Amino acid sequence: PDEVLDGVADLVARSRCTVALTGAGISTASGIPDFRGPQGLWRTVDSDKFDIAYFRRSPDEVWDLFRLLFTPLLAAVPNPAHYALARLEEAGKLCAVVTQNVDGLHQRAGSRRVVELHGSLKDAVCTKCGARLPLADVVKGRGAPRCPLCGGVLKPDVVFFGEPLPRGALEEALELAETSDVFLAVGTSLTVYPANTLPLRAKRQGAKLVIINAEETALDHLADYVVRGRAEVVLPKLAERVLNTLS
Ligand code: NAD
Ligand code: APR
Repeated sequence: PDEVLDGVADLVARSRCTVALTGAGISTASGIPDFRGPQGLWRTVDSDKFDIAYFRRSPDEVWDLFRLLFTPLLAAVPNPAHYALARLEEAGKLCAVVTQNVDGLHQRAGSRRVVELHGSLKDAVCTKCGARLPLADVVKGRGAPRCPLCGGVLKPDVVFFGEPLPRGALEEALELAETSDVFLAVGTSLTVYPANTLPLRAKRQGAKLVIINAEETALDHLADYVVRGRAEVVLPKLAERVLNTLS
């Protein structure tokens, strides 16, 4: 499928504003399981436990489960897929990364404009007074940590199922989809709302849609190009081709 990759590289090299939407699949090479792939988290962990209503009923149980999930993310480091996107941005060929991930690996790989749709592992937020504290400071121990200011139950600053997305992030992501002329969806099954409306918005205003994913996604039928492969293999090849055409 190298001629497909050449076609995509040509698109990105000539683009005014390429936007990348990433999901858990871009971080699996960093040792973080995805959700719906063959070893997906939701095959062993009940995703209903990460529903905001369930959290409100049993914060202690969800915090203990969250600690289990979040520990591998602490040890994770960016992989060649993250670095490839940072290089494209550096060369002025990527406007922004919009990510559904909370692992912060895009920023650690050097990406500067990153929109985190589902929050991040940076902070915990008080469900009562809204105070924000570094997650690392409150995550040790067992059960739900309490707010030092008001005693309220703290929550990791990630979007739980059934929770609205951070407003600013969603608005910025929608704007990016509207202004992009090339929209890359990488390592995401495109099954989760409202992130999966972004490729539709891009396509509707005339952008070219490229889906790079290890398996079929919910929106493959809409894509101008589908690259079936691993992000940590495909993205470095794509970045190399694009940067060669610029030099
Ligand atoms: P999450 O809390 O980020 O999931 C919330 C998202 O799912 C929201 O966009 C919401 O709109 C959407 N959603 C709502 N109802 C849904 C439904 N019925 N089916 C599917 N999606 C629905 O993450 P999580 O689900 O709580 O995952 C557990 C924890 O592990 C989170 O912190 C997660 O981000 C983290 N994790 C991160 C990575 C990574 O960053 N690469 C990988 C694996 C797990
Ligand atoms: N390269 C390319 N694709 C990959 C790789 C890889 N190395 N590893 C996994 N994939 C693919 C899987 O085949 C799957 O289709 O990435 C996709 C990941 O999809 P999901 O597991 O559904 O993850 P994501 O789309 O990010 O989920 C969206 O759901 O649980 C919530 O908030 C959570 O942000 C997450 C949201």
